[in-house]
Amino acid sequence: MSVEHPIIVAIDGPAASGKSTVAKRVAAELGCVFVNSGGMYRAFTWWVLQNDIEPSDTVSVIELLGRTEFLCGEEDGVGTITVGGTRMTRKEMASTQVNGQVSMIASIPEVRERLVGEQRLYASRTSVVMEGRDIGSVVFPETPFKFYIDASPEVREARRRAEGIDDAIAERDKIDSSRKASPLVIAEDALVIDSSDLGVDEVVARVIGSIRERL
Ligand code: C5P
Repeated sequence: MSVEHPIIVAIDGPAASGKSTVAKRVAAELGCVFVNSGGMYRAFTWWVLQNDIEPSDTVSVIELLGRTEFLCGEEDGVGTITVGGTRMTRKEMASTQVNGQVSMIASIPEVRERLVGEQRLYASRTSVVMEGRDIGSVVFPETPFKFYIDASPEVREARRRAEGIDDAIAERDKIDSSRKASPLVIAEDALVIDSSDLGVDEVVARVIGSIRERL
């Protein structure tokens, strides 16, 4: 489907709701760059752990943030992130340790402010389909293309188990929804899609259909 660029598509939702898979497909269909904003929080969490800093030691985390360089780029239509000189791979970003600490790091307002800046930079350079928790509510509140992909807790737990990933998603969701700084919320004007009983093709078709209607 050809669309007039630039365009920003925001896709939010809880952990393991299927939003990454959907966002990647939608980006490919629209010819946009796919950006996984959770990867940025994961990358910085990995860097905090690499530097032997306790994630609960907010002062040290913020101090590290101040002397850390992020390079957010793009390769084959997918956003890439380099932190402190290391190009992140899925292995580092999806480790059990990172899964366990990322929500604590993401609840620090200074960390959010910095990474939201990086996320907006992407959209200033190119058309994006960005997925996360606050993309429609905080990062790009002015975009008309907002989606919230949900699924039942049972389905989401089962999806993670099937991936063989050790991830306490209920715990992350609790922290992500209750934090003070940009909690996970459904943006007022977002289209909510429950993917519990839908295949990826169906969810992608609904998202694309809704974008087409509003163009
Ligand atoms: O999307 P993913 O599950 O990889 O995100 C990992 C974590 O990063 C989330 O649990 C949340 O704590 C944080 N996050 C966030 N805001 C975003 C994206 C992710 O706080 N926009």
